[in-house]
Amino acid sequence: MIRLLDHTEYLQPAPLCIALLGCGNVGAEVARHLAGRDGIIITRVLVRDTGRSRPIAHALLTDSFDEVLASEPEVVIELLGGVEPARSHIEAALSRGISVITANKSIIARHGESLHRLAALHGARLLSEASVGAGTPILAALDRLRGDRITAIRGIVNGTCNFILTRMEATGGELHEALREAQRLGYAEPDPAADLTGRDSAEKLCVLAQRAGWGWIHPDAIATRGITTITAEDVRHARRQRCVIRLLAEAQRSDDGTVSLRVGPCFVPAAQRLARLSGCENAFEIESQLAGCIHVQGPGAGPRATTSAILGDLHSLTASPNGAAATPRSLRRARLTQPGALRRHYIRADAPAGPVDPGTLLDVLNRKGIRADSLDLRSTRTTIHTVAVSSDAAADLAESLAGGHADRCLVAPLME
Ligand code: HSE
Repeated sequence: MIRLLDHTEYLQPAPLCIALLGCGNVGAEVARHLAGRDGIIITRVLVRDTGRSRPIAHALLTDSFDEVLASEPEVVIELLGGVEPARSHIEAALSRGISVITANKSIIARHGESLHRLAALHGARLLSEASVGAGTPILAALDRLRGDRITAIRGIVNGTCNFILTRMEATGGELHEALREAQRLGYAEPDPAADLTGRDSAEKLCVLAQRAGWGWIHPDAIATRGITTITAEDVRHARRQRCVIRLLAEAQRSDDGTVSLRVGPCFVPAAQRLARLSGCENAFEIESQLAGCIHVQGPGAGPRATTSAILGDLHSLTASPNGAAATPRSLRRARLTQPGALRRHYIRADAPAGPVDPGTLLDVLNRKGIRADSLDLRSTRTTIHTVAVSSDAAADLAESLAGGHADRCLVAPLME
């Protein structure tokens, strides 16, 4: 537990003892900023391989979490990523009354409920501003709106995907080329599938919903599509429609308290604010009953931006060691409902077994009760803009045209 300073300590405060878990891209950046700071002692840095050179005194490196605990830190900064062993380490620290700062959205999304309860039980705090939006203080913004009623959250919450999609627009290249560059710049997760499949965005959407006071939601309960099937041709097609393709996370809370959430690619009109985000930026639109629509935008990935959020959490921990946990202990499970809105959709499907017969295509459309706004049938590729349909109906149509292969189609609603 962080001690309260008495009068004499205030004049000459005792140093704060911090242990770091992880010294990868972000961990190394945090270590660089903490090392040599007045009033801070790094007690240990947990790494997998103590033989590798790091920007930190070698004597501080350890591969043993027991040694980390034995060094008696008052704060643990968890930057390992992934669920295990990070979750167990956070649990062990909180159980000993040690406050934890983490950038780990997987853990906050999947285990936030039990970990916040544990922190409260032991008088510790669990802070996680860096888990969404990296250096963009979106969770702090949601905290400030808790007296209001938040009714909707929409945004671009994955920097890697935004970087990839804007890069594909700029270069005309394919996804895998842009991904390599995102990895080089340290934006992508260790397993980039988490970014590309939308899993990272779904986890962040859960954290946003928690902080909006909507309740606990498991990321697996969110209808999620990623960007893996987007091709350079899709990007060019969007441009001809004066749109860009963006991976959007969207959540709404109805008057009856039910919550609907969705992550997936969207055709965003080029004139919209969300279309103009560049590189690894994130943007969030929050709608609330009293304040109206609020926009928060900034860098959403990368070691420096993430370090900014970690240092911000450290500052609020030392400024207010016993401050209320940002996520209330009373939060319940959210009541979920399927996103029901009918929207216009872009559908592109590649048939695996030769050209599609136009008569058969019209038949399929008729049978599914889907009206096409425009329809382009080129050999094995079908491109359809539908009138308003549900996301499920659009996905069902795409997959049947692609012979059941979800990896051979793209389904994207049009953001109105
Ligand atoms: N891979 C994540 C992203 C890092 O690209 O947004 C920040 O959470």
